[in-house]
Amino acid sequence: MVNRTQVAIIGAGPSGLLLGQLLQKAGIDNVILERQSGEYVLGRIRAGVLEQGTVDLMREAGVSQRMDAEGLIHDGIELVFGGRRDRIDLKQLTGGSSVLVYGQTEVTRDLMAARAASGAPIIYEAANVQLHDVKSERPYVTFEKNGETIRLECDYIAGCDGFHGISRKTIPEEVLTHYERVYPFGWLGLLSDTPPVNHELIYAHHHRGFVLCSQRSTTRSRYYLQVPLTEKVEDWTDERFWQELKTRLPADVAGKIVTGPSLEKSIAPLRSYVVEPMQYGKLFLVGDAAHIVPPTGAKGLNLAASDVSTLYRILRSVYQEGRVDLIEKYSEVALRRVWKAERFSWFMTNLLHEFPDRDAFDKRMQRTDYDYYTSSEAGLKTIAENYVGLPYDPIE
Ligand code: APR
Ligand code: PHB
Repeated sequence: MVNRTQVAIIGAGPSGLLLGQLLQKAGIDNVILERQSGEYVLGRIRAGVLEQGTVDLMREAGVSQRMDAEGLIHDGIELVFGGRRDRIDLKQLTGGSSVLVYGQTEVTRDLMAARAASGAPIIYEAANVQLHDVKSERPYVTFEKNGETIRLECDYIAGCDGFHGISRKTIPEEVLTHYERVYPFGWLGLLSDTPPVNHELIYAHHHRGFVLCSQRSTTRSRYYLQVPLTEKVEDWTDERFWQELKTRLPADVAGKIVTGPSLEKSIAPLRSYVVEPMQYGKLFLVGDAAHIVPPTGAKGLNLAASDVSTLYRILRSVYQEGRVDLIEKYSEVALRRVWKAERFSWFMTNLLHEFPDRDAFDKRMQRTDYDYYTSSEAGLKTIAENYVGLPYDPIE
């Protein structure tokens, strides 16, 4: 049993796995501790739009083979408001950038396979993970596996354990500031083996609620409906879902929907959340452990990737060049980009959803916002440059 490593990584979601793979390639030892089983982690259905920066990082980590072969390049998205369809030409508006449609489940699967192939330690079903002495020179982690308590000593700890993880909770409350916005609705998602209704994603506002037409491949679709938080997934038969979807889409789109049995259906709440700072002593918070975005901007996984990139570059400079001074920079550099993605996700959510408490003035403003952004070159560019992903900040 390994009981000393350089970087202890808590959580085997995309953040932990990608960081682990990059560190491994750079010759920096790390151990990943995951509370759940690998199958459980792969069972979670998440988003599927990768920014160029995320794609580049997957390539740098050496895990891009299947993504490059199977991912679908999308040069645009469509927005709908009041029945009007507007294409956002991402490529033209950004001077050549696009996004790649490749499911987060597949990203995770590829990273898990790479981890297994590298032989680097990853411990699934690690119970009662606890972080100790993170402010000292000798931090360590304890956990239970097969009834035994194991102590893992390390130089640094990467808290990649998501919103409900233990890492953020280890930091004393008095040093943290939490910023939060909870939205008064959720998204009901349905996955089906049916061809997508459109070759590009469609984000649509309707007075009955927002709709997203997304996809995982040319034969697998992912659709979402805005629903009140009081809705129960059991009350949504596939038939009811398809009917409501068609009601909320423009007739020409609705007429092309191919329906079929659902492979998965679930309701997710929408939340914006950031904790500051994202580090405490030798502990760094990465991805969902530090921030949550509503899915409207497709930023969750991409923001996790930019955190990973920042932390990886800092740790590489520390181990390869002795640049321990950079350690203190992590939170500041990561948060600059985090807040911009928070802003865009919040903006897209406000622009396209139906808010139960909005009055007539608010509704006119929402429609005018839409009209302005989609009829001005500057407005279109703003949406496009944020959607494809803002540049990564340098670490110094
Ligand atoms: N000990 C060990 N592992 C834990 C613990 C714990 N106490 N608590 C949580 N975990 C694990 C979870 O089981 C999960 O596998 O940490 C992992 C966190 O993964 P994610 O929630 O996927 O977070 P992250 O890797 O940061 O990915 C961010 O995934 O959640 C989406 O929208 C999000 O797309 C974004 C991306
Ligand atoms: C998805 O395919 O699940 C998806 C795509 C884009 C989003 C959100 C979710 O903005």
